[in-house]
Amino acid sequence: MARHLITSAIPYINGIKHLGNLVGSQLPADLYARYLRTRGHEVLFLCATDEHGTPAEIAAKKAGKPVAEYCAEMHEVQAKLAEGFRLSFDHFGRSSSPQNHALTQHFAARLDDEGLIREVSETQMYSPTDGRFLPDRYIEGTCPNCGFDSARGDQCDNCTKQLDPADLINPHSTISGATDLEMRETKHLYLRQSAMKDRLEEWIDTREGWPVLTTSIAKKWLGDGDGLQDRGITRDLDWGVPVMKDGAPWPGMEGKVFYVWFDAPIEYIACGAEWVEAGKGDDWERWWRTDKGADDVTYTQFMGKDNVPFHTLSFPATILGSNEPWKLVDYIKSFNYLNYDGGQFSTSRGRGVFMDQALEILPADYWRWWLLSRAPETSDSEFTWEAFQTDVNKDLADVLGNFVSRITKFCRSKFGEAVPEGGAPGDREAALVEEITRRTAAYAGHMDRIEIRRAAAELRAIWAAGNEYLQAAAPWTTFKTDPESAAAQVRLGLNLIALYARLSAPFIPDAAAAMLAAMNAPDTDWPDDVPAALAALPAGHAFTVPDNLFTKITDDQRAEWAERFAGVRD
Ligand code: MF3
Ligand code: ZN
Repeated sequence: MARHLITSAIPYINGIKHLGNLVGSQLPADLYARYLRTRGHEVLFLCATDEHGTPAEIAAKKAGKPVAEYCAEMHEVQAKLAEGFRLSFDHFGRSSSPQNHALTQHFAARLDDEGLIREVSETQMYSPTDGRFLPDRYIEGTCPNCGFDSARGDQCDNCTKQLDPADLINPHSTISGATDLEMRETKHLYLRQSAMKDRLEEWIDTREGWPVLTTSIAKKWLGDGDGLQDRGITRDLDWGVPVMKDGAPWPGMEGKVFYVWFDAPIEYIACGAEWVEAGKGDDWERWWRTDKGADDVTYTQFMGKDNVPFHTLSFPATILGSNEPWKLVDYIKSFNYLNYDGGQFSTSRGRGVFMDQALEILPADYWRWWLLSRAPETSDSEFTWEAFQTDVNKDLADVLGNFVSRITKFCRSKFGEAVPEGGAPGDREAALVEEITRRTAAYAGHMDRIEIRRAAAELRAIWAAGNEYLQAAAPWTTFKTDPESAAAQVRLGLNLIALYARLSAPFIPDAAAAMLAAMNAPDTDWPDDVPAALAALPAGHAFTVPDNLFTKITDDQRAEWAERFAGVRD
């Protein structure tokens, strides 16, 4: 038994996330957390809302609410949706928590004491039309690196380069559209990342077995020194963590707050303290401090590729620079983008399916299965209604659902609602047990390495093997001439349902729970010994026929949904 700390990139507070966001961090993190728990490991799985910065301020203004109130409400909305998708966070925290305020100020003070912070007087874009300094994200223009015409002031979404607003060609305010931006003088704290190049390089070089997507992005920014320029970690905003040191205002920084990308990853740690505060755990330092036991912890982070520079360079710079024994990440699992039906998901245009809408039309398991089995691991992938309908109908309804329904209904009609006795397994049964044993080991290997699509493919093959067995053994035919052998076939089939439930639970937790409940087998432990697990439900063990596990998506539904989610504005 090992200890695993898992974090998902924390979603921005402003608005409901779409399925592309979900599959890029929270959902795969949940899959891994659930899997490790079924393997008997001790898991701490943390996520939170990312509440600071201008997006929150502007969304609150739009909603006509004070920003604190808006964030509190949206946090509840996101927490409910996370529950709806069965995301099994041990705690879903808030970056605006007192714990994160304190810890963010603590890290800044440490970095300052280590000589890693300098004060910079600079000119920044001020928008007279908007009456405020424009934060990076609210300035758009052409990327100086790749020429993309809607690059944001903090980062180009096309080439992932971290940017400074002043780098943009033809900048404008995305709040008002104003182009009459002027440079005004202001003072900010800068983190001297450049002074940490060697330490960061050494740390990244010693990371073993990281995914190519992660290391290539990290190395790219390390290589040309670009990701390691000193970065401003304060902003002229009202909403955020006030810039303070040792409980007093930081001289010269009055009225300013820390940059959202400085405090957000610190929330991963603060979330542990919130978890304790909420009474769900009693020692968070044992997960986060290497001097307090976290040396034994394996820490895995999940995120979309646009987040990689912040997690491979900026956040480690904060941690390493503090010179305190905080736990650093062991493995970063990053994802490409999920596109929507020939284009991109678009929040502003309402294009694509958002988390609330998804749950309105279908249960969580349908989405979980499709999104995870098509996770954008090695390249961008695409959601299409055709693919979604085909996969759900085939994998879930025709293969898994049909197997469960056929075997339980057949047993009920011929033997009653208990595992039948009599007969003995023959060669066909032995071959199936052998195949399932082999495939279960392969499945576990993929899950251990967080190879999600491969794991899903193996699980699908495990389900299919049962179906093919049932088709070939045909207990309904066997029964006519040899009821004893039919009983043995059905016994194996019923045991397979319980095994499928255990193996499938990380992907489709609700269906798995329904299968276990029907089989009257509440234990969700991992089947270490597959042959034994396939004989675990003895003759006479009572079960019930579950309700239909999955309903097929009709062509009419598919057409209706494709139309409904195509987007309203352009
Ligand atoms: N809110 C950011 C996003 O959605 C992710 C923040 S992750 C953290 O892109 F490291 F900052 F916490
Ligand atoms: Zn670019």
